[in-house]
Amino acid sequence: MVALVRRRNWTGSLRLTLTFLGLPYVCTAAVSRPALSCSSAPFIKTTTSPIGSSWCSFHTASVNTMPSVALPHVKARCPLYPGSKTQRLPVPDDKVDWNKSWPQYNPVNYTDPSVLKKPVWADPDIGSFSPAFNTVDSGVDRTSFEGKYKVESGKPLNPRGRTGVMGRGLLGRWGPNHAADPIVTRWKVDAKGAKILHSVSKRPILQFVSIKRKDCGEWAIPGGMVDPGELVSLTLQREFSEEALNSLCVPPAERGKIQERINKLFKSSGFQIYKGYVDDPRNTDNAWMETVAVNFHDDSGNSVSELPLQAGDDAGQVKWVDVDSSVALYASHSHFLELVAKERKAHW
Ligand SMILES: *[C@@H]1O[C@H](CO)[C@@H](O)[C@H](O)[C@H]1NC(C)=O
Ligand SMILES: *[C@@H]1O[C@H](CO)[C@@H](O)[C@H](O)[C@H]1NC(C)=O
Repeated sequence: MVALVRRRNWTGSLRLTLTFLGLPYVCTAAVSRPALSCSSAPFIKTTTSPIGSSWCSFHTASVNTMPSVALPHVKARCPLYPGSKTQRLPVPDDKVDWNKSWPQYNPVNYTDPSVLKKPVWADPDIGSFSPAFNTVDSGVDRTSFEGKYKVESGKPLNPRGRTGVMGRGLLGRWGPNHAADPIVTRWKVDAKGAKILHSVSKRPILQFVSIKRKDCGEWAIPGGMVDPGELVSLTLQREFSEEALNSLCVPPAERGKIQERINKLFKSSGFQIYKGYVDDPRNTDNAWMETVAVNFHDDSGNSVSELPLQAGDDAGQVKWVDVDSSVALYASHSHFLELVAKERKAHW
């Protein structure tokens, strides 16, 4: 299936904009967000992208390998809502689908205090606020990769069904909250630069840039939320720079070189690994995570492979980690890496 995928330089002209603007090298942390649960740590900021063109041109390949409707979400029904003492109303597998009649369904209403404080990345409460759903409204992309979602009493309904919680929980946006996950890889090589083959699979080993979150100590892909009006291609590059390379605090003399390498890598043909709903423990009946995961591969090893990795402000450590099925990561991240390994004919 992966072999059918066409590739192209999907960042195209967008990259130009970036080159003109340059990266914002300022020594401050990115928009701070409430501390999240471990499993949700990889997704840290706000939402959105503009008009559909760039989205439409993405080559959705492996999306089919993750059935979009088949399995009922599981993490989105975890008993304890992350970062709170709120217990979800238990939703049995056969009652996840909104189609299944459940007249007495009365989920707990929970929106985190940090969201109710109306930070820039969050919507106001519904009532005073009635955004246009299933479209891009005031720069905020409220369309879903899952197709058109229902809106009931002014509130969007999770396209994958019931979660046992209404409101937004820790998520800022009503409806889809869009994230982007850059998976930056290189080959593991020996001192002479030759690819190291895995002793069992006899396949070359890939390494990816992984960050260890300070808040929970879990290794994760350095992803983040798409800001309103931001192109996903830019989010991918920005998150990688901010979170993994900590380029915001690199000495001025180093900046140009690092920026150039990051620009160059992200200008190369990214391979889209996944685009769609994320079964995330922060999801609710009215707010949920969606992501685009793209692999940027430094095949020759002379681009970002050589960069000295540093921990960013909200990251504990950052390093190259071997891509291997035994690496413990947030579940969907493991799945993304498996797809990358298959695509690159690497060890898994
Ligand atoms: C279930 O929902 C889908 C989409 O929301 C709809 O198209 C379909 O007709 C519904 N099926 C039943 C049995 O109600
Ligand atoms: C849910 O909680 C929010 C505040 O957390 C409140 O504004 C809203 O009215 C509540 N909704 C319902 C249906 O109880």
